[in-house]
Amino acid sequence: MNLPDDLLSFFNSNASATPAFVLSESAIKRRASEFVLLKERLGISKLLYSVKACPLKRVIQTIHPYVDGFSVSSISEIELVRGSVGDDCFAHYVSPLINDDVLNEIQRGPFKITFNSLEQVLRFGSQIPSGGLIRTQTQRSALRKNFLRPKSAVSKLGAMASDIVARESALLSCHISGFHIHNAHLSTTMRPHINNLSFACTLRDQLKMLSIKEINLGGGQILGTLGETEKQTLKVEIKKSNLDITIEPGAGMVWNSGWLISRVVDTFTKCGKRIAILDTSVNHLPYVLDFGITPQVYGTVPKGDPIVLGGATCLERDILGEYRFPEPLKIGELVLFKNVGAYSLARANRFNGIRLPRIFWLGNSLDEYVETVYQTQLT
Ligand SMILES: Cc1ncc(COP(=O)(O)O)c(C=O)c1O
Repeated sequence: MNLPDDLLSFFNSNASATPAFVLSESAIKRRASEFVLLKERLGISKLLYSVKACPLKRVIQTIHPYVDGFSVSSISEIELVRGSVGDDCFAHYVSPLINDDVLNEIQRGPFKITFNSLEQVLRFGSQIPSGGLIRTQTQRSALRKNFLRPKSAVSKLGAMASDIVARESALLSCHISGFHIHNAHLSTTMRPHINNLSFACTLRDQLKMLSIKEINLGGGQILGTLGETEKQTLKVEIKKSNLDITIEPGAGMVWNSGWLISRVVDTFTKCGKRIAILDTSVNHLPYVLDFGITPQVYGTVPKGDPIVLGGATCLERDILGEYRFPEPLKIGELVLFKNVGAYSLARANRFNGIRLPRIFWLGNSLDEYVETVYQTQLT
């Protein structure tokens, strides 16, 4: 099946099928194999998929053959991974929430854990003989915009390097084997990882007693645009570091394998501006409001009359963006958002009772995909 003409014909003839998410199996596999090549090329030890980006069983099962395991952030995600690919699959747990229930789950499987604070390390570290990592704060954000962190707030994520050094002797009996640094998102370069690795090596060298063997460099990598020089630099730095390296991309695995298909339900002109209302909403693409990102739309052109695409909720700011199409949009016409495979289904909500999109899986054919946990939110 070709994207998107065949999608257009399917959804044109199925009026009740929108709003819908379409996930492309071949696109997921393509990205996953590119990450495998990157891992092999750079000498990375473990490639994990961060389930939070698109936490669907079929996605996990599709990515499973390519990765060394999964990165999970809650007991529900642990259960999802186990239910998708079995109990013996490796997973790395990273979340500020660690309690006895989480520890019980971690101890059941071949799991690693990252502690978010030194207090957590001291409380729980000795109970995890397989070793844990300390999430480490570099005080440097690799984000293009600083939209993820509230102004003036001290980051709640990770321990300060200076505190790790100062409290090293207290950490000795806590089975700490490395650091975890995640501070990039949608990064089109490997620069954050080069900087973070160098930061980790400097910190490791300041420690006199702890034996640091590994670093989890988090996610944030978007492939396809990475320059050769940066890849080479990272490869050399990884070799020099003598550390076991893990990466755990989420968005990078799935972002360009997902489409949101919506339909125009009204169009009008107001104060000289064309507006079209869709049967979707920022409910289905929450990062539009959270991060100020304008999603890409299929079939737009540089010239043409601008039209604002608004969502179907009461929220004034429920605006997907302003776009130009070759012809004015008409009621009933489809609007296809592309590259929305990450953090959309996972964070979609039902504000105003707008139902969640139906999910379609594009494998050899286009079939509706039903996943109970997600689907029960539809009603
Ligand atoms: C600790 C951690 N690792 C990995 C990821 C995945 O990041 P991305 O989806 O940007 O690749 C996240 C995302 O928030 C994260 O918090």
